[in-house]
Amino acid sequence: MNGWRPGDRRADTGAMLRVDQAGEYGATRIYAGQMAVLRANSHCAKLVARMAGQEKRHLERFDRMIAERRVRPTALQPIWNVAGFALGAATALMSEEAAMACTEAVETEIDRHYSEQLAEIGDDDPDLAATIEEFRAEELEHRDIARDAGAAQAVGYPLLTTAVRAGCRLAIGLSKRI
Ligand SMILES: [Fe+2]
Ligand SMILES: [Fe+2]
Repeated sequence: MNGWRPGDRRADTGAMLRVDQAGEYGATRIYAGQMAVLRANSHCAKLVARMAGQEKRHLERFDRMIAERRVRPTALQPIWNVAGFALGAATALMSEEAAMACTEAVETEIDRHYSEQLAEIGDDDPDLAATIEEFRAEELEHRDIARDAGAAQAVGYPLLTTAVRAGCRLAIGLSKRI
């Protein structure tokens, strides 16, 4: 807890942790939806399984942090449960490339979101900042894996990307407050 000052920053970092925990939870649900549809042992399924393992670790860390700091988790978790899984399953049903386009779009928004948080935290909360920095690097890896796996070849790629990114921004905005 070095450098964390409960007095002046508590409200901000609490909202940050709430949305970050919600986001990592959503990520595990998206990948669970994709895994439910993707052919086991396909190249795509292996990529998704590896990324899903990292999302699980991200979620566990934020679960621990919101418990330690007594931050109220989002009340929208049941929605992200269903919406995340549905997004993952739907994109994987479209094609492997669409599943990858979903990951690319999600991780692009998460990178933007984590970067904004890091700028806002500054030196106020080194513990949280280090966690976000570590996870952001892995989200960027996920984005690049999805790009390399042919995300842009998905049918309807521009529309899909726009829709998924808009959905992410909406989910982020809601989870900060609710
Ligand atoms: Fe993550
Ligand atoms: Fe990720």
